[in-house]
Amino acid sequence: MILSKFVDELPIPPILKPRWKDQFYTYYEVNMTEFSQSLHSQLNDSTVWGYEGGYPGPTIEVESGEKVFIKWINNLPDKHLFPIDYTVHGAHRDVPDVRTVVHVHGACVEWESDGYPEAWFTKGFKQVGPYFRKQIYRYDNCNNACTLWYHDHTIGITRLNIYAGLAGFYLIRENRERSLNLPSGKYEIPLMIQDKTFNEDGSLYYPKQPEKPIPELEMSIIPEFIGDTILVNGKVWPYLKVEPRKYRFRLLNGSNTRFYRIKLDSEQLMYQIATDGGLLEYPIGIKEIMLAPAERADVIIDFTNLEGKNIIMKNDAPAPFPGGIKPDPNTVGQVMQFRVTLPLSSVDTSTIPAYMIPVPKIKEQSVTRIRYLTLNDNMDQYGREWMLLDNKPWDAPISENPKLGATEIWYLINVTDDSHPIHLHLIDFQILDRRNFDVDKFNKEKVIEYTGPAMPPEPQERGWKDTVRANPKQVTRIIMRFGPFTGLYIWHCHILEHEDYEMMRPYIVIR
Ligand code: C2O
Ligand code: CU
Repeated sequence: MILSKFVDELPIPPILKPRWKDQFYTYYEVNMTEFSQSLHSQLNDSTVWGYEGGYPGPTIEVESGEKVFIKWINNLPDKHLFPIDYTVHGAHRDVPDVRTVVHVHGACVEWESDGYPEAWFTKGFKQVGPYFRKQIYRYDNCNNACTLWYHDHTIGITRLNIYAGLAGFYLIRENRERSLNLPSGKYEIPLMIQDKTFNEDGSLYYPKQPEKPIPELEMSIIPEFIGDTILVNGKVWPYLKVEPRKYRFRLLNGSNTRFYRIKLDSEQLMYQIATDGGLLEYPIGIKEIMLAPAERADVIIDFTNLEGKNIIMKNDAPAPFPGGIKPDPNTVGQVMQFRVTLPLSSVDTSTIPAYMIPVPKIKEQSVTRIRYLTLNDNMDQYGREWMLLDNKPWDAPISENPKLGATEIWYLINVTDDSHPIHLHLIDFQILDRRNFDVDKFNKEKVIEYTGPAMPPEPQERGWKDTVRANPKQVTRIIMRFGPFTGLYIWHCHILEHEDYEMMRPYIVIR
């Protein structure tokens, strides 16, 4: 079904109000429910899941260092919206179909509040997973100002829960950022980009089986989900009316599998000011931005002197990435439209600063441990793709056990044909480099023989990251310091169909 583009206005999720706030702490409650919502004006309302009655959920805005407590409450029905594969880890018939657990992606948080995939809970906390520790999560927000997002993380069904709508923005603010005089208030807009597919009746479609169905199974996980429709903040191909001035957009790829290479059809520059973990040292003028699932980029777009113009945000990333098909320029090759039709309501005094904040390089001399970790592609008993980290399933004993305060380098050795967005919980890292290597030789002899020079990260990746594209047939090196908490965290591929099966591993920070 092909829907008309640019007929609905971009929704902007409301800011969540706390239940309690004093000088010591802030308390929120967030309910997850099922409801119907209009995702496009020519479609019947769709049944979705959301937080506080909205998809995306309301934006949570906190101050760096603020102590925040959140009770995430599951009020969802017992029946899932989408086909569950009961052969997938953690989703066997011995647990209820509808389980949830919430992770704030990029948060610096104690492990008990991190949303461990096996810390799931059901309605009324009637049943809980083996790692469930508390009903009310605590967030210390020890991050700098940044764009985070919260989303479901339940083992074995994350792809389905997020696809149903369980995602929202979590913004951390700080005076240092305010002093930079960036576009703010109504000129600062978060954009959650996702792809979905609809049934004729307006309901969301998620496949029951891969293209080549598995006859032994009624429902089977698919190797990737590629939707035929693009949504921003829960609306299909929306438009946004803007004033002829500067805006700050917080771009987030909230898709299951799809990568985006974002461009403006006006060919104008976007000024990237922040990565996953916050501000860059200085803005980077760029014509295109690559965003893998879960990656964020804050950009300033300047509409000054463009009165009356319509500008389309386009996408030309193949799906799956990088080996898949190029997007149709008339459909998924477009994301949204900006209409420069609002009058300038006041002089634009916001700035694109020449310098923002220091991003000190983590020193390689301080490294105490180097880990070599492969990204593998195997086959399961049904002949399905089975992607693993370090060739180990989720359940294998924990092998990554950094010490609190230790600096490590991880070599992500990708022997597959896909680019995998690798995400570590708890910490932000820096990308050192990427380098091509001889995959056949590595597979046979387990030695890395480089076939090209080390390539530094792209300018727009030279900031704090929590998710990195590990490209096929490359070694991607990242460096990070583990802390300030000890405990049980995870690292995984953020292609949701991969993390559910089962490109995800626990790691532990020890004292
Ligand atoms: Cu965005 Cu482990 O997640
Ligand atoms: Cu992957």
